Amino acid sequence: MVTGMHVRSVTDDDLDIVVATVARWQLDPGHHIGYLSCTPDGIREDLTGLEPNGVSEAVGAWQGSSLIGFLAAEWDTTPPRVWWHGPFARDADIASVLYTEAHEHLPTHVTQEEIAADDRHDWMPGFADRHGFIRSEAAAVLTLGPDRAPPPAESPVRPLTADDTEGVTALHDLVFPGTHTPGSLLVSGKHHDVLLAAGPPGAPTGYIAAERQADGEGYIDFVGVAPESRGRGIGRSLIVAAVHALRESGCTSINLTVLETNRAARSLYSALGFTEERILRPWRKGFV
Ligand SMILES: CC(C)(COP(=O)(O)OP(=O)(O)OC[C@H]1O[C@@H](n2cnc3c(N)ncnc32)[C@H](O)[C@@H]1OP(=O)(O)O)[C@@H](O)C(=O)NCCC(=O)NCCS
Repeated sequence: MVTGMHVRSVTDDDLDIVVATVARWQLDPGHHIGYLSCTPDGIREDLTGLEPNGVSEAVGAWQGSSLIGFLAAEWDTTPPRVWWHGPFARDADIASVLYTEAHEHLPTHVTQEEIAADDRHDWMPGFADRHGFIRSEAAAVLTLGPDRAPPPAESPVRPLTADDTEGVTALHDLVFPGTHTPGSLLVSGKHHDVLLAAGPPGAPTGYIAAERQADGEGYIDFVGVAPESRGRGIGRSLIVAAVHALRESGCTSINLTVLETNRAARSLYSALGFTEERILRPWRKGFV
């Protein structure tokens, strides 16, 4: 353990040093944590944008005035889950001290925990094992760089209408059962800047949900096509339309994650010019 190390909650006054330190760690695949920006501005937005009203917590490990470890928690009620943003530290021992401290601040309703780390992370497998996390299926992080022109638009795609609410809710819950954003929340439009559908209003054959992130990059969160309508170019059209909408709103790069084993989606994204940036490995605890 580190001589003179102390751990305490992070306050607004610590934000500059936290942002600078986390930005350095994020650029290193051996310490990179998923679902958190890589740029200082993005990290600042992410950390200050965690749920308000005290429903998130951040702890730092300090040696004198140097920040040598950091861990933030973002939790929700539906599902009753905490997403850990970190731990960031040079080794699993410092990380364990941070985790134990932050864990004490979790509300009692939180029964599920998730950490997503770059699959090349130096010490995450050992840390995760030590704390009872289970290795889960990896996802590829794909990017359409700012230099890649969006492909031309194809078959018609349109904004979601009120008539689509039932159909898209059911389709989303069928295609992505048990995800963090259930269909009823997805169709509310609260979480996405771009929400498009294919097919006639009231009988959607597919949908896509995307957002403009704090760092100015676009993120495609979900795309789904009804099983009986697949293989007809609908998925491709939805992605192309979302890319255009995100670019029009000023997004530079466009990112998404897709399960490493999802061959259909991966070959579709690859055909559209997306390239693999990294493999993210989720580590989960308390999931049923
Ligand atoms: C991925 C998904 C959206 C594709 O929708 P789709 O309408 O069937 O896709 P398209 O017809 O537009 O196919 C376009 C390209 O995708 C690829 N593709 C689609 N289905 C494929 C399959 N089963 N196997 C291999 N490649 C496939 C091909 O490259 C295809 O191009 P081609 O027609 O020139 O060969 C759809 O399969 C789906 O809803 N899957 C479940 C949800 C999901 O996995 N979403 C993506 C993760 S966020």
